[in-house]
Amino acid sequence: MDKFIIKGGRRLSGEVEISGAKNAAVAIIPAVILSDEPCILENVPQIRDVSISMKILYEMGADITMLGKHTVKIDASGITEPIVPYEMAKHMRASYYFLGTLLGKFKRARVSMPGGCYLGDRPIDQHLKAFSALGANCTNDHGMIDIQADSLIGNQIYFDCVTVGATINAMLAAVKATGLTVIENAAKEPHVVDLANFLNSMGADIMGAGTDVIKIRGVKRLRGTTYAIIPDQIEAGTYMVAAAATRGDVLIKNVIPKHLESITAKLEKIGVSVEEFDDSVHVTVDGPLVKTNIKTMPHPGFPTDMQPQISTLLCLAEGTSIVTEDIFNNRFRYVDELRRMGADISVDGKVAVIEGVGKLMGAPVTAPDLRAGAALVVAGLAAHGITEIEDIYHIERGYENIEEKLRGLGADIIKKSVPGSAVRKVAL
Ligand code: EPZ
Repeated sequence: MDKFIIKGGRRLSGEVEISGAKNAAVAIIPAVILSDEPCILENVPQIRDVSISMKILYEMGADITMLGKHTVKIDASGITEPIVPYEMAKHMRASYYFLGTLLGKFKRARVSMPGGCYLGDRPIDQHLKAFSALGANCTNDHGMIDIQADSLIGNQIYFDCVTVGATINAMLAAVKATGLTVIENAAKEPHVVDLANFLNSMGADIMGAGTDVIKIRGVKRLRGTTYAIIPDQIEAGTYMVAAAATRGDVLIKNVIPKHLESITAKLEKIGVSVEEFDDSVHVTVDGPLVKTNIKTMPHPGFPTDMQPQISTLLCLAEGTSIVTEDIFNNRFRYVDELRRMGADISVDGKVAVIEGVGKLMGAPVTAPDLRAGAALVVAGLAAHGITEIEDIYHIERGYENIEEKLRGLGADIIKKSVPGSAVRKVAL
């Protein structure tokens, strides 16, 4: 398997450009199917999950033309079969967005059940609840989710829990339904808003995205559009933490500071200085890092996708920090890897107790999933000595050119390709 080799202890300094948001892109790319005309997407991140999404579209019959490094033209009018087979869907959990978009376009969808995941139990009952509320019949046919509807009629959908995926899938299915759909207890993440803005740019009628009540009036057809994907708040947050962990001085560009508010607030509490500009943030550390308690919550709370990274930073802070993972029930799998580097963390269910150790030691570690892998990169950058990180394909799912961007900030990181490395099934 490919691996990163990091010689830690160097302060990051300089400027880094943030790419388009993974979790917006993996929703917007399938949503192109809803349009009867070609769409042009800009600021598309060059990451594995995006290439998998586009490969699925291509295999289904879409015409895909790269107009630039981060700009793609997609004409999905050639797609006639609303089916995504297991072989294609198994590599990426977000393939479940093809359920909503194919149902919304064809009133039929057959997509493989999302793969087993690394973060604990991740059911899709709320997705199916939304589809059923619109009049669809959902069955599990030998591991394929089979959904069909004679017609899709707008309805009231109240989610039992705040769920990004089900909120997005409900929008995709309802956007061409007959009449009004009201989604209550909706997720408010920036990528939920970005999808709604994309659909509205195609002629949809969606109001309230970003609040917990989203209203969708069905429209008959959706036209082509040109749309720029928002910057990735989690990639930006990861570089903010990396700058702090190395006591660096970094300007993080192409961000929306409002999307980073909860991350900035916690970093400032830890003792990190964050200076905000229109589309960038400047991160420095002057004094000591101090213990801070973190609890992950739906947006605008502290994002679960930043929990492994900020926990790594707290290993370097003075005192005892408490981190509560309130979204997923198994998102501490990186802790064993950090312990190999000298971290002092004890985990009991959803709570991690972190005793600051002041410094970490380089060691060979393995990335268990995407954000845990990013946390191990942060640890390696801060550690004394050499850290080798295996299974970096997890990290490359969500971070464009991470080793190049870090080298641009002065990090000593190289990617070592190991013969015979194969991409294993991943699902997040
Ligand atoms: C999205 O996953 C993101 N993935 C995740 O990012 C992110 O961690 C998560 O939202 C929370 O922000 C993409 O956008 C592709 P959820 P999703 O539905 O949609 C429960 C990353 O690192 N739930 O908001 O799967 C679920 O078990 C990835 O980029 C149900 O019970 O998350 C979880 O406990 C990791 N039933 C909670 O809701 C359902 O039908 C939140 O899940 C759906 C979800």
